[in-house]
Amino acid sequence: MIVDENITAYLRSLIKEEKKEELNTIEYEARKQHVPIVKPETKELLKMMVLLKKPMKILEVGAAVGFSSLYMNEYQPEGGTIVTIERNEKRIKQAKENIKKMHKEQMITLLEGDAIEILKSLDGVFDLIFIDAAKGQYIHFLEDVLRLLAPEGLLISDNVLQDGDIARSRYAVERRDRTIHKRMRDFLYTIKNHKQLETTILSVGDGVAISLKTGEKNEKH
Ligand SMILES: C[S@@+](CC[C@H](N)C(=O)[O-])C[C@H]1O[C@@H](n2cnc3c(N)ncnc32)[C@H](O)[C@@H]1O
Repeated sequence: MIVDENITAYLRSLIKEEKKEELNTIEYEARKQHVPIVKPETKELLKMMVLLKKPMKILEVGAAVGFSSLYMNEYQPEGGTIVTIERNEKRIKQAKENIKKMHKEQMITLLEGDAIEILKSLDGVFDLIFIDAAKGQYIHFLEDVLRLLAPEGLLISDNVLQDGDIARSRYAVERRDRTIHKRMRDFLYTIKNHKQLETTILSVGDGVAISLKTGEKNEKH
């Protein structure tokens, strides 16, 4: 946990339940089964971003059991749709069941397979893209994600601080985690310095980067 535990516990105590009982049950079951769905405070940040941005089209990389898609769809404008990608068969099955349970088959499209391949095959323009998948791959998603993101579109990337490891020297993290550490640092450096993006990195949950696609930045930046 990268934020003080007492503060986190207090903030979580203020979070209200969703109006739809089925959504609360899907969240509860996912947490009980240790499915790595968005942390409660990250979920609230997502809600706020969706309410502010009012995205008609959302792309999600990393559906797990469909919770964050179902949650974001609750706050999209009427008629808003989501395309979400998942490669794990067990989770795909659960996501399909959850989408069906909430009667969201018309709003949420689940694409099955590896996002690296699927992103390359996608066309269209998305108002908000949420990356919540294998952390070592974010840097490899970026080119396609930027192609698919609308001008003034929002890119939200979750788990970017890796339990705080990202702020430590590569020599202070376990040897087996060093490749992910380097790739995530490369990703954060790239989105902070990209000429088409304005990015802020927040220590919410496990770290969330919020990037706005601004087009070419002024030379002075
Ligand atoms: C953190 S979970 C997603 C949680 C979900 N967004 C939520 O909050 O409800 C990450 C998911 O991404 C999937 N994943 C990781 N890398 C992927 C890839 N390259 N292509 C497709 N799915 C991937 C994993 O199988 C896992 O279920």
